[in-house]
Amino acid sequence: MTELFATLAAQATAARLKAYAPYSRFQVGAALVTEDGQIFAGCNVENAAYPEGTCAEAGAIAAMVAAGGNRKIKTIMVAGKGPAPCLPCGGCRQKIREFATPATRVQVVNEDGKLLFEETLHALLPASFGPENLDQDV
Ligand code: THU
Repeated sequence: MTELFATLAAQATAARLKAYAPYSRFQVGAALVTEDGQIFAGCNVENAAYPEGTCAEAGAIAAMVAAGGNRKIKTIMVAGKGPAPCLPCGGCRQKIREFATPATRVQVVNEDGKLLFEETLHALLPASFGPENLDQDV
């Protein structure tokens, strides 16, 4: 296990325990590392008005953007519970895409930080729409 993997797993599993998920009772944590080595974490935050809930990945991305600086995601790790990997939903794949490179990786661990799944974002969201389609410099 690399030091970076251990750090992301520690941050993602710790964030998972802080998740506010009284409706689904499914707590999720996420931690990402930027290309320049900054680490940000987030958790899902549900809402009594169900569609207003936000995913763990969205929280980590918001923290990254709020911190300023490098916004290229090297790896994003999601921590769920149980044997089935908690894969990012379609909306989160698109949110990650905004700050992804062709090399961006998605890792999924369980509540103990055990690796269950790893892929590139590109494999999870092929032929995607991104900032380049709008001619934006990001
Ligand atoms: N959820 C996440 O936060 N990330 C994922 O990758 C999948 C699902 C949350 C949304 C909702 O609060 C709960 O898990 C059940 O869907």
